[in-house]
Amino acid sequence: MAMAATLSRLSFGPSSCKANGRTNCKPSGARTGVGSGVLDRCSTWRCSVTATTTEIMAARRQQEKKNEDDEWRSYLSPEKLEIVRQLEPWVEEHVLPLLKPVEASWQPSDLLPDPASLGSDGFHSACLDLRARAACVPDELLVCLVANMVTEEALPTYPSGLNRLEVVRDATGADGSAWARWIRGWSAEENRHGDVLNRYMHLCGRFDMREVERTVQRLIRSGLAVPAPASPFHGFVYVAFQERATAIAHGNTARLVGSAYPRRRRR
Ligand SMILES: [Fe+2]
Repeated sequence: MAMAATLSRLSFGPSSCKANGRTNCKPSGARTGVGSGVLDRCSTWRCSVTATTTEIMAARRQQEKKNEDDEWRSYLSPEKLEIVRQLEPWVEEHVLPLLKPVEASWQPSDLLPDPASLGSDGFHSACLDLRARAACVPDELLVCLVANMVTEEALPTYPSGLNRLEVVRDATGADGSAWARWIRGWSAEENRHGDVLNRYMHLCGRFDMREVERTVQRLIRSGLAVPAPASPFHGFVYVAFQERATAIAHGNTARLVGSAYPRRRRR
């Protein structure tokens, strides 16, 4: 796409030239006068119109977007997708073992008061203790908790994104491929994150849970548009960074919330 356009033989008045950021007005044809007379008859001038900085930047962005689109589409060539297909034995051997068995996984009930195991009085007492400690958490940390929880609770959006990736997608919802089992196993582990945050927030009494829940519903309903939605290369590179960033964010938030608890009550 042309980065600059030159138009000629167009007539603009001075105000038009200024409004469009174009300054190369010059008289053409017969002299039109001097002083204010020139301005009065500027509509007869010709403007050699060059692209403004804004237009150049817009054209550059458009070109860059086209280059990006062309590049990610190249990752969907049969040769490149074959690489992902051939990685499946490696995923079976090295990636699937990273998923913990259900029996070895922590559950939200392990971390928060559980009425079934504590009984009515014990549960009530544990909740009062939790509420007393949460009362010391500053509002700005509560905002971080909401952001973390809402992000985790939008989990239905994430496997639907993974299932748009070529080769690795779980086409039936119960595929036996290593890629598909990894997507389901990862989703199942992830599901606990939103649950535990949701339950903590519910019990501590510091949040307007109805509004938070409405936000979650809106977020899932809106969906998530990602660039290169079918490219497993882009998808996995993104996930590699995003998962690490999320782990750091959750860890930092948890440490700060814990440090806000009264020392004598800290477990
Ligand atoms: Fe998570």
